Amino acid sequence: MKIAVLAGDGIGPEVTREAVRVLENLELPGLTLFEGDVGGAAYHRHGHPLPAETLTMAREADAVLFGAVGDPSCDGLERHLRPEQAVLGLRKELELFANLRPAKVFLGLEHLSPLKHDVASALDLLIVRELTGDVYFGDKGIRESDDGAREGWDMMSYSESEVRRIAEVAFKAAQGSGGKLTSVDKANVLETSQVWRDTVMGEAARYPDVTLDHMYVDNAAMQIISNPAQFSVMVTGNLFGDILSDLASAAVGSIGLLPSASMGARETAHGTYGLYEPIHGSAPDIAGQGKANPMATILSVAMMLRHSFGKNDEAARIETAVEKALADRIHGGDLGGTHGTSAIGDAVLERL
Ligand code: NAD
Ligand code: IPM
Ligand code: MN
Repeated sequence: MKIAVLAGDGIGPEVTREAVRVLENLELPGLTLFEGDVGGAAYHRHGHPLPAETLTMAREADAVLFGAVGDPSCDGLERHLRPEQAVLGLRKELELFANLRPAKVFLGLEHLSPLKHDVASALDLLIVRELTGDVYFGDKGIRESDDGAREGWDMMSYSESEVRRIAEVAFKAAQGSGGKLTSVDKANVLETSQVWRDTVMGEAARYPDVTLDHMYVDNAAMQIISNPAQFSVMVTGNLFGDILSDLASAAVGSIGLLPSASMGARETAHGTYGLYEPIHGSAPDIAGQGKANPMATILSVAMMLRHSFGKNDEAARIETAVEKALADRIHGGDLGGTHGTSAIGDAVLERL
């Protein structure tokens, strides 16, 4: 099992270090880790945020563990050289079109959520976010408008085939968890969303055991906070999924808790290829201070073991260890606690 470890920028290397310690602690036979440069770190070293050798390393691995990219010193660069292009490039090049972002309040950990106890306790949802289309990957530019001022523009689109393949992932996920799927769009305003909604509805006939409903994204944002119990699996486009998943993380308690899996159709000798990363970014405001919560990245390792290697027991062991650490009040600053990154890593390892 070859794993490409791409730690990236800011807190990326800090949280990835702890996740790698957890992974190595399992002593899985045949596991090999390779490290590659990505993001601003790669730009500073090689002049590009996603060097060819990093892309090759990722491609030749069975799975990728990704930290985070983003470096304020790169914000003035031409867009194709900015750190964020590395993660976008990996998703696109590796055809990782399905991003799974689970958000769950664990039993007994409702106090971590800013929501009322009974509202928080019902929060257990999976956001299935389309990851290689939408306004993220359309043509874009800055042009001169009629009054001579700059005008930015970005093309939003979804084709039926793009929607169909993400809908399939979402319907199957819903079959495995209660049989309820909510598709989130903005079909009252956007043609992109009309095609999205029509296509999802068309797919529904193939999954008679799944109850499908549709919700506009503005309402969905409000409903996640006020009545999360109604949601099980949500499927949505790239931009809406980005926003709703940060929102869901805050409802759980912190963005430092939410892992993700980015999957495509590629099978490997060991299972299914995937890229695993926390949903948060490089957090420049706390980088280098040993304060970042590594739990989201540690939980991303659990998702890797489950989705890419079929190692469900090991995945569950990691999740239980994190849950126990949280229950034992091992809290980083993001949860109002005082534990630093490596102390949280130590605590998870002890419970593992
Ligand atoms: P961010 O997720 O990096 O940080 C948002 C807030 O949450 C900050 O206050 C930060 O300190 C806090 N936070 C995030 N992760 C945390 C953790 N593990 N523990 C404790 N606190 C944590 O979002 P941002 O500030 O909007 O973006 C910073 C940079 O990261 C930008 O360059 C952005 O483009 C990039 N970014 C990258 C990814 C990625 O690599 N997949 C994801 C999101 C943002
Ligand atoms: C995420 C991030 C990325 C996204 C950025 C860094 C390109 O916010 O993974 O959630 O928007 O997808
Ligand atoms: Mn995001």
